[in-house]
Amino acid sequence: MEQQWWKEAVVYQIYPRSFKDSNGDGIGDIQGIISKLDYLKLLGIDVIWLSPVYDSPNDDNGYDIRNYTEIMQEFGSMEDIDELIAEAHRKGIKIVMDLVVNHTSDEHEWFLESKSSKDNPKRDFYIWREGNGDEAPNNWESMFRGSAWEYNEPTEDYYLHLFSKKQPDLNWENPALRQEVYKMMTWWAEKGIDGFRMDVINFISKHPDLPDGEKSHGKEFGNGAPFFMNGPKIHDYLQEMNKEVLSRYDLMTVGEMPGVDVEEARKYTDSSRNEVNMVFQFEHMGVGDGVEEGKWSNNAWELNELKEILSRWQNGLETTGWNSLYWNNHDQPRVVSRFGNDGQYRVESAKMLATLLHMMKGTPYIYQGEELGMTNSEFTSVHDFNDIESINSYYDLKNRAKWDEEKIMNALKARSRDNARTPVQWDQTEHAGFTTGNPWLEVNPNYNDINAEKCLADKNSVFYYYQKLIQLRKTYPIIVHGKYELIFKEHPQLFAYERHYEGKKLVVLCSFSPEKIDFDYPSLDKADGKELLISNYSQENQPEALRPYEARVYLI
Ligand code: NOJ
Repeated sequence: MEQQWWKEAVVYQIYPRSFKDSNGDGIGDIQGIISKLDYLKLLGIDVIWLSPVYDSPNDDNGYDIRNYTEIMQEFGSMEDIDELIAEAHRKGIKIVMDLVVNHTSDEHEWFLESKSSKDNPKRDFYIWREGNGDEAPNNWESMFRGSAWEYNEPTEDYYLHLFSKKQPDLNWENPALRQEVYKMMTWWAEKGIDGFRMDVINFISKHPDLPDGEKSHGKEFGNGAPFFMNGPKIHDYLQEMNKEVLSRYDLMTVGEMPGVDVEEARKYTDSSRNEVNMVFQFEHMGVGDGVEEGKWSNNAWELNELKEILSRWQNGLETTGWNSLYWNNHDQPRVVSRFGNDGQYRVESAKMLATLLHMMKGTPYIYQGEELGMTNSEFTSVHDFNDIESINSYYDLKNRAKWDEEKIMNALKARSRDNARTPVQWDQTEHAGFTTGNPWLEVNPNYNDINAEKCLADKNSVFYYYQKLIQLRKTYPIIVHGKYELIFKEHPQLFAYERHYEGKKLVVLCSFSPEKIDFDYPSLDKADGKELLISNYSQENQPEALRPYEARVYLI
């Protein structure tokens, strides 16, 4: 068994725009993060993953980078980042930076040069193709709706953008571009950062012919995914990046990989192949997605499907590779609203979901506010949304799919990325103590009930429950290393599993029901000297049934 620090770590993701504003401009910033380091230390996390803090025109809130070695003005300065790294390190917290190299901003100097003329030296840093008459080079749809191609007047051809037209895709076929990326990564590594979270990194190798994608359901565009997800040279590129940069430093790496399956993930994370430490897979977040409208279909989901997916990933990376564990990030709705109960059982279900995830094998990620049990927000019209994906999808569902207003709003309320991006709720003062100015995105109106100050004053809060889960991981090696085994496989409301390690057994029981559920587990009843490590209910006279959203963890 390989011992590596990132296998024992718990990561906390910060979306800087929404975390804490220090200067009253309504936008979170780096000094705001520094002011909350003691809070994070109290929670007990080991690593902060910072969503992009680089100079950006913010078409996609920083995922469109104009300059990789400058800091976004609203967030502060390079001195602030240096101070954050130093302060965090002094407190024993590591810093992982977001690495966005599938694309840049169209305002990046490489792109300004590339689009200026066909013989510019940076021309091949991006992906250019001739159109077919008046039509784009192929039928791919961008992730944010509309064609994935944009016409460029001066050169009379098109560039590829898998995301917004202000996010042109970099051409990884070009060795000079790759060297520039490695140089930039080395620059950050030399600064003393502790790792990279790699944005849609499995999109960087495109099929050389860029063939048309399959069209379904009378749609205007085709699905290009098979020709850019996990493309032909992706493993070569990652191995080269590893050799040139990653292997020279003690860095943690996690590749965000939509559309990755277990077999492919095993290759990406097999330590003998020298690619990345772990990947963010998307399968479990896709339960209830529809064939036609993807996540906006937001169909009912089945617990047994969630069990099957998560168990397949646990088993698939048991001996080779490593899992990342997450429910939330800046692209997902709040988990207590998605898989829990954000009404009567908000606290119970937030703790249950935390238990389920944190007792699994892998590196857990907590997204800001998850430790407070923050919920989806209230959006009443399209104007309440900020995210480019939400807004573009609104008009696409209205004009193309002909959905009525109510249906669209219900879909967006359930799955919009803005749910994750409302400011962190610190206290009961105006704007939840996030800013003294006007927040860039409205604070969730429930901040009087749900906020950090209240959680810190209540020893039964979601915050202290997360703190305890983190401490348990640090105390019991079985939580880090134990072998996973699903139990009660067919039970429709109970997600339960065991972990096995050096003759010990961990039993994790999690109810997804708002009602009591029976649970008959004779071997647990008979087990001598079993120890209850954590539960979200008092266990004074341990009932035979699990109460609504109850979670229990026993060590035997
Ligand atoms: C994935 C990021 O998590 C998301 O926020 C972003 O919009 C896309 N990649 C494009 O960078």
